[in-house]
Amino acid sequence: MAVNILCVGDVVGPAGRGVLADRLEGLITERGIDLVVCNAENAAGGSGLTPQMFEKLLHYGVDVVTMGDHVYRKQELIPVLRDSKRIVRPANLLPGAVGRRWTVAETKSGGNRVAVTCLLGQMFMKQNDSPFTAVDAILGEMPSDVVMRVIDFHAEASSEKIAMGWHVDGRASVVFGTHTHIPTADARVLPRGTAYISDVGMTGPYDGVLGRRKDRVLQYMTTSMPARFDVAKGDPRLCGVLATVSAETGRARAIERIEIRGRTDEG
Ligand SMILES: [Fe+2]
Ligand SMILES: [Fe+2]
Repeated sequence: MAVNILCVGDVVGPAGRGVLADRLEGLITERGIDLVVCNAENAAGGSGLTPQMFEKLLHYGVDVVTMGDHVYRKQELIPVLRDSKRIVRPANLLPGAVGRRWTVAETKSGGNRVAVTCLLGQMFMKQNDSPFTAVDAILGEMPSDVVMRVIDFHAEASSEKIAMGWHVDGRASVVFGTHTHIPTADARVLPRGTAYISDVGMTGPYDGVLGRRKDRVLQYMTTSMPARFDVAKGDPRLCGVLATVSAETGRARAIERIEIRGRTDEG
């Protein structure tokens, strides 16, 4: 039996939430999607996630939310991170960090379980523990009968992401990169059965600079003068990958990029 797992990239601001609200349900039906994993670290005004938005994402059809370097930006999310099994924080933070390092979710139709984790990269980012050491530990902690395993690798450097793909090839079903907000064209199934992409791209407004207003970013970049990097609105797109995974072995059979353009007024 094959399970279709949709992994969605960083939801950015109202434009990202809007395109997800408008398009996710239809996509789930159309493509027979069994589980949706979604990085939502930028959902609230471009940085962080609120409890209300978390609930909305679940309502739209998201099954598990992953986070990134902005995980604690909205402090009101901390109780949700502590209590809900539908959200994970980056696994390689310090041990005192609140939230689950991994979780297990049931597929929409029930009957199949999928483990989900997320990790932060080390290159060009704030110092964290090694994601390679952390992922080895986590894969050992996950129940052995949960063979389908999804990893959101939230990292800046494509080299580190590709290295992670090879590191877990055959031990994870999907490794999907997030954080750069730019989709990459390297989706493939690695030889031992891990579906891999360096970055799925953001689910947000592409008429800007990584989700921020282009006039503001240009003001800063062309004059050195500070500007408020408010979130952009135009050209919202839902970006992710759809991975088809064997429920028996946990090996991926296929991976396909998904990019759905919304209406600008969705932002
Ligand atoms: Fe992000
Ligand atoms: Fe990030």
